[in-house]
Amino acid sequence: WTPSPVLGIESSCDETAGAVLDREGRVLANVVSSQHAVHGKFGGVVPELAARAHITTIDTVVAEALQQAQVSKRDLGAVAVTQGPGLAGALLVGVNYAKALSYGLQLPLVGVNHLEGHIASAWLADPTFPLPCVVLVVSGGHTHLYRREADGCSALLGCTRDDAAGEAFDKGAQMLGLEFPGGPAIDRIARSGDPQAIAFPRFRLRKSDLEFSFSGLKTSLLYKLRDMPAPPTPVQVADLAASYQESIVQVLVDNAFAALSQTGLSALAVVGGVSANSRLRALLKERAEREQVRLSLPPMAYCTDNAAMIAAAGRQVLVQRGVEPLLPLDIHPTTVP
Ligand code: KG4
Ligand code: ZN
Repeated sequence: WTPSPVLGIESSCDETAGAVLDREGRVLANVVSSQHAVHGKFGGVVPELAARAHITTIDTVVAEALQQAQVSKRDLGAVAVTQGPGLAGALLVGVNYAKALSYGLQLPLVGVNHLEGHIASAWLADPTFPLPCVVLVVSGGHTHLYRREADGCSALLGCTRDDAAGEAFDKGAQMLGLEFPGGPAIDRIARSGDPQAIAFPRFRLRKSDLEFSFSGLKTSLLYKLRDMPAPPTPVQVADLAASYQESIVQVLVDNAFAALSQTGLSALAVVGGVSANSRLRALLKERAEREQVRLSLPPMAYCTDNAAMIAAAGRQVLVQRGVEPLLPLDIHPTTVP
């Protein structure tokens, strides 16, 4: 494969995204169309509505990305698309669009695992970030700790036994009567609350264990709300949000640093939607500085779902393995590395 611009396409959940990387892998355009307004009134993503919104938006998003990048379709060297994990109907829109485009333009097509995309985002703004390293993927569907090798292989060190961290944020926000998506809402309201005001459990299964569990925390919030006069005052909501967030974030940080000491590595990348959380970012930076750990925390635009990370992961496959014969590409709604 001769290095050339790569178009990335992402449609696994509720963001329709298109991005273009230049021949060196730098981001030329990163366009995201969010469906939050579509799903907001339902308090969560409605799969059928997500698929329909991708259908109506995808062509415009890709055209916008190409225009911003000032790259014509004929200048592209490959198309990379999210194959999974994600919502089947939503994935089908991106995959079929990418297939048609690559067939029409006779371009190599690479199917990308969404988590590989999040992992690749660690190098988008920090191309010299070292390998091997520990990677914590924290998103709406996953809380996974990996040891990442120089050859691009990952070994799973631990993951959540129940809810993902993003899910804990979203469900907690729903209980607190905050808007969808819950993570940014808790993050915002927690700034005026006291993180020590309410004692929430911090679940680490065993000290030597790198697993996570958030379902007990969620139940604990439910009981605290049940035991106080309804509705809670704005001050109580802010204190609950700040204390609940603190509990999630402390466990994420503790496990990530425990993974570093268990593996003997000194480089940590934290990626995925929850890595946009301001308290998590502050704690990670503080602890990384104290323990002299090299930290990669992607800029906000690369934390939540985007197509630049998909293009980057696809480009990596092409650079390492070259163009493979065009295989029938299908969606993989549940495959995790
Ligand atoms: O990576 P992402 O955009 O999509 C998935 O792959 O799931 O992550 C979405 C998740 C949602 O659960 C959302 O509430 C959470 O990331 N999130 C946040 C913040 N921004 C997004 N959680 C906490 N604080 C934030 N600032
Ligand atoms: Zn994601």
